[in-house]
Parts: sequence; structure tokens; C-alpha cells
Amino acid sequence: MEHTLMTLPYSYKALEPYMSEETLSFHHGKHHAGYVAKLNTLIKDSEYAEMSLVKIIKKSTGPIFNNAAQVFNHDFFWHGLLNEETTPSVELSDSIEQQFGSIDAFKTAFIDAGVSLFGSGWVWLSVDQEKVLHIEQTSNADNPIVSGRVPLMVCDVWEHAYYLDHRNGRAEYLINWWQLLNWHFVSDNFAEQKEKRNHYYIHECNENTEVCDYMSDLEEAERVSS
Ligand SMILES: [Fe+2]
Repeated sequence: MEHTLMTLPYSYKALEPYMSEETLSFHHGKHHAGYVAKLNTLIKDSEYAEMSLVKIIKKSTGPIFNNAAQVFNHDFFWHGLLNEETTPSVELSDSIEQQFGSIDAFKTAFIDAGVSLFGSGWVWLSVDQEKVLHIEQTSNADNPIVSGRVPLMVCDVWEHAYYLDHRNGRAEYLINWWQLLNWHFVSDNFAEQKEKRNHYYIHECNENTEVCDYMSDLEEAERVSS
């Protein structure tokens, strides 16, 4: 199975002034494209050649894991951006307020997590099987799927995501990124998880994912425990 670079649902210029055309074209057209190309090279003629992206993430280690996870993480990141003002669903908003106090307190905690992450990585909002929300930092290519949680939103805090626009100003980048946050995407992911239909977010995030391994794993776990 040949993995392909996700087509962005907006133009490279569309996220200005919060994210420049130059940043977007390098980030998507060079960095993200590089992970896709490298993954295809690494899995050729291997046991991973016909696996979906999520299955590769769950089964592999080393360079194959790193490149597969980076493809997924970037797909997820791009879907979470939109250059128009959006708001969280009432259901998500209620959960955030219940756990973090307010949307503003959540924003502060999320941005702080992004600023304080050491080195390269990602900051996520994820939800666990008990429906508890988590702000989590992951290093390098790691993501919540690895630890059995479902990702709802993410910010890329690798330097390549912000250096052209903000140099070493990661906090400034995170504040600008927040302006682009697509709450529709986050709310949809949350709703799908609540209904245990979380295969949608993966399917929609990667055109190559034909079967939701994550969902089938969950169903299997439930069958075993019931
Ligand atoms: Fe990136």
C-alpha cells in the first residue's frame, strides 16, 4: 500500500496572518512529504507493506514507527486548523470546563504544555476509556494511540513548525496557532469517541486507512472483558 501525502483542505496562503505561506509550504510540502516518502521506502517489501497507517504505528518500532507516526500526526494537525473562528460543541465545552475550570484555563494549560515540552514533539488533548480528558506532551513522533488514548486535538511543536515565522518564539507560535484551532474537528472527534465510533477521525485523517484498527482493537478488548 502506497501512502500518500494528505491534500490540505485549504491553500498554503489560507492560514495567514497566523501561519505564513512559506511555513505551510515547507512544513507540508517538504517535512510532511518527506515522512511519507521515507515511510514508503522503509516498508517496501516488508511485513508492513500492506498495513494501514494506524496498524503500522501500533506494530512497529524505530524508523518505521517514527515515519508512520509523523505522517499520522501531521494529518491530524492539518485537519485541526481553520482560518475562521470556531467554537467547541456544548458537550465538549462542558467537559473541558468540568475538568480544567474554563476554556481559558484549558487554553493556558495547553499552551504552557507546548512551551514547556523539552525538545521536539507534540501537545495533545486526548481522552481515555473512562472519558477523562488529558493534556499530554509526546516527544519526537509519539502519539496517544501508543498509550491507548484517543487524540482529539494536537499542536506540532517541532521547530520546523514555527522557526520561519517566529524563530525560537515557541510561545508566540502557540498563541497564533490557537487562533487557527478548528473546534469543529475537535468537537467531532469528541462526539465520535463518546459514541465509540472513533474510527471516523482516523478514516477522515488518512485516506489510506481502509479499516480502523483502533476501533477493532477496542471492540476486541471489550469482548474479552465482558
Ligand atoms: Fe511538523
